[in-house]
Amino acid sequence: MVRLSPSILSANFANLQGDLDQTKGCGLKMIHIDVMDGIFVPNISFAFKVISDIRDKNDYFFDTHLMIEEPIRYIDEFKKAGSDRITVHYEACKDLKATLKAIRDAGMEVGLTAKPETDPKLLLKYFDQIDLILVMSVRPGFGGQKFMEETKATMDLYRKYIDENNLKVKMQVDGGIKTTNVREVLDLGVDEVVSGSDIFAKDIKSQILTYHEIFKEYE
Ligand code: DX5
Ligand code: ZN
Repeated sequence: MVRLSPSILSANFANLQGDLDQTKGCGLKMIHIDVMDGIFVPNISFAFKVISDIRDKNDYFFDTHLMIEEPIRYIDEFKKAGSDRITVHYEACKDLKATLKAIRDAGMEVGLTAKPETDPKLLLKYFDQIDLILVMSVRPGFGGQKFMEETKATMDLYRKYIDENNLKVKMQVDGGIKTTNVREVLDLGVDEVVSGSDIFAKDIKSQILTYHEIFKEYE
């Protein structure tokens, strides 16, 4: 079953819970939480306080995408704030193995990703240590960018690797996804779809329902 992970980066932070309330009653299971430190990426978003403030009112799986340097420093803080899964960047970790283990030991699911320009094959040796591989289909840092067509080759590579090795790793795509192009990544075997501006800058409920209708074609 394909899952949608709406990125709250494009929500209205002056009315964040109001926007989240509009996501209710659509069969949604998770939300995507983008944390940026202004160093790993040229943008700063939000962190623990916002996550813990929305934790109690939203019974979703908190899919947390850390675009920060040395995320190992903050794993326990994100756990405390309410994250259910942490996805870290290959380029951001000096000791990636220890970082993945720290996420696992804290009792969360483990995700791994890389910038589009990083060789995707470098990540394959960690697939036995992760629950999720995230394919970035834009350069991390901002919502509302254009989908990079060349990242489809990475999705294709990872889908084949997961299937050929009988792994349980799920594949997620993040960046530039819209109801108008999502079928192109579903055709490549993506399990989870992140979408930010195409949901929160539009009619939130109707966009989520449209994504779910499209996903049904792939059941
Ligand atoms: C980009 C973030 C994305 C972003 C996606 O660095 O990781 O999650 O919110 O936004 P859209 O769907 O607008 O490209
Ligand atoms: Zn993201």
